[in-house]
Order: sequence, then C-alpha cells, then structure tokens
Amino acid sequence: MKIAIGCDHGGYNLKGEIINYLESKSIEYKDYGTFTKESCDYPDYALNVAEAVVSKEYDFGILICGTGIGISIAANKVPGVRAALCSDTFSAHATREHNNANILALGERVVGPGLAIDIVDTFLNSEFQGDRHQNRIDKITKIEEKYYR
Ligand code: RB5
Repeated sequence: MKIAIGCDHGGYNLKGEIINYLESKSIEYKDYGTFTKESCDYPDYALNVAEAVVSKEYDFGILICGTGIGISIAANKVPGVRAALCSDTFSAHATREHNNANILALGERVVGPGLAIDIVDTFLNSEFQGDRHQNRIDKITKIEEKYYR
C-alpha cells in the first residue's frame, strides 16, 4: 500500500505523527509537504495529493489542515477524489466501506494525535463493500461528468 500525504501549516505537527505511524508499520509513503510551519495555502497541497491519488500512483491520500475542512473541500474538486473528513473511527471505516473514500482528511486542531492515529489505522484497514454502494458512487461520478468539462 502506498500513501500520499500532505498538509498546510495547520496540519504540520500531525503530519509528522502520522508519518511516524506509517514508518512504524512499514507503509510506503510520499510526503508532499508542507515542510515548515510557515503559513501556506492548503489548496496547493490538496491538489498535489489529489493528483497523486487519482493518477493511481498512490492508493490513498492523507491530508491535514487546521480543521481538515479547507483541504478536503479543495481535494474534492479533483474528479475521482472522494475525500472524507473524519474525527472518529466509525466515520473512518464507514467512509471506506460505503463511499470508497480514497483520501482521509484530518484536522490537527480538532483531533488529538492518539485519536488521529486510530482514525488513520481504521481507514487504511477497512475495505469497500461494493454492491449498492458502487451504484451510489457511480452517481457521484455522473455529477462530476455533468459539471467538469
Ligand atoms: C489555517 O489557518 C487554516 O485556515 C487551515 O489550516 C484550515 O483549517 C482551513 O480549512
């Protein structure tokens, strides 16, 4: 499994914690930055991670900003991205099982590092259930096709 990870300055510390977790599990990843705590713009990091995921170069993305909101909104503008902002483990497995989410978004100012790692672990170890859920995702793709030309 290969992970693309990125953040803005608001998610910088939590990105480091998550990278430690990925390394402890020998999970391959690429860090798309940001690499300092200097103020920066979350859409830039959302775009790079989103493109890495929809190109299939990476299996999943993890994006972190202060709330997780801005960076997930930005990532979800890229056709094929299903970025899910999660602050609990139920949402983390449900969004893999039902939405086939391919990017997990987290808010460093919302969840502590312990819960965040549990959310990442749950997300990466849950499987899409297909079936009726695939039909609904196909309808999301149709919405993308209607508006992105
Ligand atoms: C940065 O201050 C903050 O606005 C950003 O990290 C994020 O929370 C936006 O949604």
